[in-house]
Amino acid sequence: MSRLALVVSDLDGTMLGDDQATKAFIAWWRAQALGCRLVYASGRFVPSVCDSIRTHDLPIPDAIIGGVGTEICETRTGRRLTEWEQRWWPSWNRGRILAALAESFDLELQPLELQSESKISYYLRDASPHLLREIRLALVESKVAADLIYSSRRDLDIVPRGVNKGTAAAFLAASWRIPATQVVACGDSGNDLSLFERGFHGIVVANAQPELKQNVLRGTYLAQNRYAAGLVEGLEHFIRATCYQTSSR
Ligand code: GLC
Ligand code: MG
Repeated sequence: MSRLALVVSDLDGTMLGDDQATKAFIAWWRAQALGCRLVYASGRFVPSVCDSIRTHDLPIPDAIIGGVGTEICETRTGRRLTEWEQRWWPSWNRGRILAALAESFDLELQPLELQSESKISYYLRDASPHLLREIRLALVESKVAADLIYSSRRDLDIVPRGVNKGTAAAFLAASWRIPATQVVACGDSGNDLSLFERGFHGIVVANAQPELKQNVLRGTYLAQNRYAAGLVEGLEHFIRATCYQTSSR
């Protein structure tokens, strides 16, 4: 790969989950001083991600992708990138989706604080591929431009069509003029799958859910280590690849 310019990482189950590994990542990241950009991409909303940054003393990222891609916040200015969200405002109808799904399925809504104008989240334990297909079909039939993201055999997110962590990260990379080949993404569950579909290099941590492990493309780095230790392992792998490419030119 060419020079690493952007690292996009999920938080829960990836950078967070094993405090010792998180601390080791922080020390490693500071020592490396890679000079590349850093983005956190989470299913949680931006304020909750900020709480984690403070609690764990994580490196300050250049931007935060929250709500599985429905929010992007530039950290330096604290500005929420409304130019990203405006894209789906004309075609998104939260009320219609809630009504369409309530009609045919017995779904448990997640608490109010995990809902937003652009993200509808349910708990749906151990959903079969068949049930997920039915829900997708109901969305299509009700003519709402929406996608379904299922993770950890528990979380069902309904988001505007084409909105996910991957497209949000690609939007940021493009705005910083960083080609996909200089981006490394890292994750552990189904809501990270989109990060592995944008032509970025990818790291899957060892504790990842089968839904991610089984669906990523060849060429993705499957770490032997869990949580943030897997992130460091994967980044070292890509940094080594970069050095090799530079010295062999
Ligand atoms: C986070 C969010 C939750 C979402 C899940 C999966 O836990 O808080 O609403 O369903 O990520 O994306
Ligand atoms: Mg995760």
